[in-house]
Amino acid sequence: MKLAIMGSGGDAPGMNPAIKRFVEYAKERGHEPYFIYDGLEGLIDGKIERASYKDVAGIIHRGGAIIGSSRSKRFYEKRYREQAYKNLQKQGIAGIVVLGGDGSFRALDVLSREFEIKFVGIPTTIDNDIYGTDYCIGVDTALNVIRDAVDKIRDTASTFSRAFVVETMGRECGYLAAVTALTSGAEVCVIPEVEFNIKAATRILKEEIENGRRYVLAIVAEGTKRTKGIAAWLEEDLDMETRITVLGHIQRGGNPTVKDRLIPFGFVVEAVNRLIEFKKNGVVTYKDGKYGFLDIETVTKNRYQIDPDILKLLNFLD
Ligand code: F6P
Repeated sequence: MKLAIMGSGGDAPGMNPAIKRFVEYAKERGHEPYFIYDGLEGLIDGKIERASYKDVAGIIHRGGAIIGSSRSKRFYEKRYREQAYKNLQKQGIAGIVVLGGDGSFRALDVLSREFEIKFVGIPTTIDNDIYGTDYCIGVDTALNVIRDAVDKIRDTASTFSRAFVVETMGRECGYLAAVTALTSGAEVCVIPEVEFNIKAATRILKEEIENGRRYVLAIVAEGTKRTKGIAAWLEEDLDMETRITVLGHIQRGGNPTVKDRLIPFGFVVEAVNRLIEFKKNGVVTYKDGKYGFLDIETVTKNRYQIDPDILKLLNFLD
């Protein structure tokens, strides 16, 4: 069979190890690996090519994705989806492994309902916001990039006796901010999932400042849209000179950590097996240390929730 792999949506470190394993494992199982370049845009434009070992040599340590990715507006239009389908047919692609987030899985789901496409998704997003899986490719690297940045910000914050507001990515999901706040020992954590109790935080921090606290670290998830508001609060109510750091796309880059090399291998093996013994479209999951599979409706119709144990450890103020 001809099996293809593609990226879609925001890239994440660990895609290259996944792509490498895909080529190797598809061949091991006696199938022909193909690349769809540049995500859904490339699918529409027919950028589908046969892949070889040579293509994936020396890529395991690199961030990003050698096959590219995209967010596609054209894919919302049926005529382009039809074009994408025809390209797959022309090349005789029997199934696709999609490295992406839930938006990408939804897009493929629409295509498969219209044109009978077989696909298996692998959760790939630094946001860690996909239902049914504890882990998405890229999260560990992003967390370590953020940790490194926050450690450095702490150095200057403590020297200058300032407050720092650090904004993390994650769309509507506060996972990156929550884990960062926990593992960086931040004083303030603001995420979309939990109401921030500004009154209680003011009282506690004022007391701490009176008792000698020299600086404050606040981690704010982009999804709250409160970065500037939190900075204003620290300046005005707590009388602290405050600076804002928006980490931005730096969080999507960097060499994949060991976890973001190893976990993708298992994701890919499971995804390729699912395509070979095809029963239904769906997404490979990683839960409690084991790989599993959920059908596409379950993944797209449900919403990811941060592990309550993480929120408990953060000790949000009531
Ligand atoms: O979904 C991954 C992500 O990095 C989000 O955290 C962020 O909100 C978004 O993508 C940024 O998208 P873009 O790269 O299109 O600006």
